[in-house]
Amino acid sequence: MLKNNGKKTAISVACAACSCLLLLLLVAVQHHRLRDSEGTHGAGETRASSPDAAPVEARPGSAADRPGFSAYFTKLTRGRRELESRPGSSSSSAAAATTGDPPPAEDITADDIFIAVKTTKKFHQSRLSLLLETWISRNTQQTYIFTDGEDEELKKKIGSHAVNTNCSAAHSRQALSCKMAVEYDKFIESGKKWFCHVDDDNYVNIRTLVKLLSQYPHTQDLYIGKPSLDRPIEATERLADNKMKPVNFWFATGGAGFCVSRGLALKMSPWASGGHFMNTAEKIRLPDDCTIGYIIESVLRVPLTRSNLFHSHLENLQQVSRPEVHKQITLSYGMFENKSNIINLKGAFSVEEDPSRFRSVHCLLYPDTPWCPPQVAF
Ligand SMILES: *[C@@H]1O[C@H](CO)[C@@H](O)[C@H](O)[C@H]1NC(C)=O
Ligand SMILES: *[C@@H]1O[C@H](CO)[C@@H](O)[C@H](O)[C@H]1NC(C)=O
Repeated sequence: MLKNNGKKTAISVACAACSCLLLLLLVAVQHHRLRDSEGTHGAGETRASSPDAAPVEARPGSAADRPGFSAYFTKLTRGRRELESRPGSSSSSAAAATTGDPPPAEDITADDIFIAVKTTKKFHQSRLSLLLETWISRNTQQTYIFTDGEDEELKKKIGSHAVNTNCSAAHSRQALSCKMAVEYDKFIESGKKWFCHVDDDNYVNIRTLVKLLSQYPHTQDLYIGKPSLDRPIEATERLADNKMKPVNFWFATGGAGFCVSRGLALKMSPWASGGHFMNTAEKIRLPDDCTIGYIIESVLRVPLTRSNLFHSHLENLQQVSRPEVHKQITLSYGMFENKSNIINLKGAFSVEEDPSRFRSVHCLLYPDTPWCPPQVAF
């Protein structure tokens, strides 16, 4: 277990997606000094321990503290459940705000949204093809794939929407920020009204995404997503004179996907455009999704709008209620200690045929897809 050394300033770990959550886990493990080492409840981080997840400034061994992680996931899940069951809590009021059907503030279509999918060449086959066959196939005009290598096959499928960022393929904090910087610049260039970022293990339900975003004017300051924890992250900002300043802010976990309105994205420009995003990430030494939260919440003082309809593989996906699957905005899947963390959906395909459940979700949402089996009552 980690030593509780008070200020957890310099800890920064980059894994693949959800990089910031991993960082928070370290911080939280420090905070709570968990003693219970219960089971995992199916939630887990797979890529944290992948060999190419290069830890940045992490003490050796600390990130791979598996019992600590398992216990922490259990606690995280429990904490969120408690928060959600408390009447009037911010979490449940956010749920109410997104599940009701208020009149749209703006009449937008899928064409008004820029969806950035972050991937790496290694996952073009194993992850990206599944997305291209499913949700991206319905939304090629608004989806852009940000990767780190040339791929002629990918270019054939999606043309100029496959963007080689020329960023490093490493899972370092710098490489992740490099891709986010390119995503931001491409969004600004696109002229679209909303910027949404997802990872290559996310299914995006565009209809529900359009419905959510149309509740807000894109010219206002909106940052929408799901925080990983029930409290803000504590970080340290490095000032020009080498002084350190503690900062607290919420951020939406990148692995669940998040959206930023154009109005707000334009205000972020001094900290995010050109090479500035990477400089900002270095200033607070945090991964890409945390840096977005830092710019928006800490610098621009715009609060995160929470939505429970975004899901990362770091939460227990079994808890996504089966009849509500079609109402979610993003879904995910993952593996942890040989147990798969997937949504509970009885659908067109068995778990063996469709381990991520994305094909089954797609057939539920678009039964007219040619490869979906003829419609049956599931
Ligand atoms: C990456 O490098 C290629 C070749 O130099 C260039 O054409 C392309 O525009 C670069 N991509 C970005 C996002 O800068
Ligand atoms: C996971 O499964 C593989 C192959 O079935 C096995 O070799 C490995 O030991 C398992 N790992 C765990 C953590 O159970």
